[in-house]
Amino acid sequence: MVDIVPISSYPSYIDLLPSIQTCNITNLPENYFLKYYLYHALTWPQLSFVAVVRPKNGYAKSNGIAGAGAAGNVAGEYPKVVGYVLAKMEEEPTDGMQHGHITSLSVMRTHRRLGIAERLMRMSQLAMSESHRANYVSLHVRVSNTAALRLYRDTLGFEVEKVESKYYADGEDAYAMRLKLDGQWMDWKAIEKRIAAEDKAKAGEADGDDDEGEPVGDMGKKEDGDEAEKMVKVKVGRGLGVGDLVERNESQA
Ligand SMILES: CC(C)(COP(=O)(O)OP(=O)(O)OC[C@H]1O[C@@H](n2cnc3c(N)ncnc32)[C@H](O)[C@@H]1OP(=O)(O)O)[C@@H](O)C(=O)NCCC(=O)NCCS
Repeated sequence: MVDIVPISSYPSYIDLLPSIQTCNITNLPENYFLKYYLYHALTWPQLSFVAVVRPKNGYAKSNGIAGAGAAGNVAGEYPKVVGYVLAKMEEEPTDGMQHGHITSLSVMRTHRRLGIAERLMRMSQLAMSESHRANYVSLHVRVSNTAALRLYRDTLGFEVEKVESKYYADGEDAYAMRLKLDGQWMDWKAIEKRIAAEDKAKAGEADGDDDEGEPVGDMGKKEDGDEAEKMVKVKVGRGLGVGDLVERNESQA
């Protein structure tokens, strides 16, 4: 079994980088110094993902991957990486459009055609659009790389933007490809509106349900014209909003 998780799910994910680098060296002629992986991992830890082999006896709970479902590694060892996608946000986009970029993607031969690359790509694309509101994601691919081209164009829907002549060190041309992502953005305003409406509905239900029973004993009895128990509605929780909080001025005596 293979788990696909963001590198940031490992408490010490920097330790994972040499295994990612090994996977890259095994599968691609385009290799990078470890510091380039480090730069990606430290700057955009949520955008790069790994495919790791699940240990036969499952994960140890005490030490390992934090988070949903995939917990732990065995005896402090980091797991075998069989695929990765290394991704980033373009820091100075020439077109002024916030967008992501796939720096490198590969899957070990032993684990190909299982849908791993597709999953890695889709998860990274989603993270780019959700956490960075990326307008699109770009990448380069060798014009001769049929497998990757099929994956990008036919499976994921990338389009060829242009051919970059002699892009690779050995003189091969690259297709510069991109995929629009703005359709995947989370509409936070709509989500907040929905939550506010749900809160309001709940508050309404609670008002209607109030059944405090009959007053018991003298303390509970209301005198005629007694205004002491007048109920005042106050905003609580989400509805209060940060704007309504008043900060105390500590500098004044
Ligand atoms: C390209 C690569 C990442 C694909 O990884 P993968 O996990 O095998 O791909 P998936 O199983 O997710 O394949 C998804 C789709 O991509 C296409 N595809 C993948 N490998 C293919 C191949 N060898 N031939 C033709 N199409 C292929 C298919 O459309 C496939 O869908 P299908 O299996 O339903 O037909 C992998 O072959 C690899 O690591 N190659 C060497 C490194 C590389 O070229 N990286 C890309 C650099 S730009």
